[in-house]
Amino acid sequence: MTIYDKIEKTLQQLGVSDARAVESLFGELREAAEQERAELVARSAPNPTQRERLCKALRDKWLARKGGILARVDENWLKPAGKELKPVVGRQFNDLRRATASMEFEKLFEAMPLREEPVKQMELPLTSGAGRAVPRDLTLPGLRRPLGSIHPVTRMQREIEDIFLRLGFWIENGPEIESTYYNFDALNIPESHPSRDDWDTFYIDAKTVLRTHTSPVQIRAMEKYGAPLYIIIPGKCYRHDNPDPTHYPMFHQIEGLAIDEHITFADLKGTLDFFAKMLFGEKVRTRFQPSFFPFTEPSGEVAVSCFVCDGRGCRVCKESGWIELMGCGMVHPQVLRNGGIDPDKYSGWAFGLGVDRFAMVRHDINDIQLFFQGDVRFLEQF
Ligand code: FA5
Repeated sequence: MTIYDKIEKTLQQLGVSDARAVESLFGELREAAEQERAELVARSAPNPTQRERLCKALRDKWLARKGGILARVDENWLKPAGKELKPVVGRQFNDLRRATASMEFEKLFEAMPLREEPVKQMELPLTSGAGRAVPRDLTLPGLRRPLGSIHPVTRMQREIEDIFLRLGFWIENGPEIESTYYNFDALNIPESHPSRDDWDTFYIDAKTVLRTHTSPVQIRAMEKYGAPLYIIIPGKCYRHDNPDPTHYPMFHQIEGLAIDEHITFADLKGTLDFFAKMLFGEKVRTRFQPSFFPFTEPSGEVAVSCFVCDGRGCRVCKESGWIELMGCGMVHPQVLRNGGIDPDKYSGWAFGLGVDRFAMVRHDINDIQLFFQGDVRFLEQF
């Protein structure tokens, strides 16, 4: 029976009936206390908090008012002791109390060394191989999370933007939900004009549409900044076009606008020729043909000699040798006026191109819908 078992019994149950036996019993208890104290001091702890926790645990084990060893001794040995043994048990008990108090369990941590926890051997995750569990080889390359890529239309847009940024233009944006005033009227497309049908779109209400082109931002920018003005305007546009290989109800345009004193059609030609050469290569030639837009006068369509076949005719240029690039022209004086700019002092040119169609030509893609179907097999090629 250990001394810890003995404190749970009375002296009578232990057969202790004389002073010497009492002293020997208390001697055993003091030894146990000293041994525990010595063991604690020898035992190092990994950090101060744990050190203090160990000391407090030892103090409580011996001295806690409820359930501590001394409390058990008081309860089981002292209180029930017979008249003849009580004085000796009382004396021994007081000695024990003094002894344990002087051991200062709660302060022992000051003597306890701190030590580094030994690094635990890492448990290797097991994987079953050839019928038995073997550690997984941690030097094998990890799982690759596939990275997305820039959408081909966005990539095209950025490429075009970069060329104009180098020329000193800046990027302006405007709302996709637009008033009929900015989308049509301010651009010389009054309600009664048949050309409005060409750009008819999705109406939010009688005066609000999903913009059909980026041209309304021309007026907004003129109002905001006045002249001179050199901007490009990228963004989404919407039309009630049925989807086919070259049309989609939502598509992307980039508008260009330059307004300054003495701007002529020669500036427009020079800028767009430079732009085409930057985008498709030094060798390409540009072709300007007359066209009509209500907001430019004169208006033109620009084409570039096919950068694949050099104008001889191939699949990309549909055997024509030319690729249609964009609509353009000199900003109509009334449009300048609508934007608050004096057409007697300033003139300007503008163009508008379809980014999706540019990306189709660049990558030889035969259906615009591929861009918007979210098919990863298509998109991961870029
Ligand atoms: C315009 O939208 C004029 N605002 C462009 C302009 C600006 C002319 C400034 C003069 C001065 P157009 O309707 O042609 O023009 O459209 C321009 C381009 O948008 C087209 O060449 C085509 O590339 C693209 N586009 C038009 N509709 C669609 C569609 N449904 N799907 C894909 N691309 C389209």
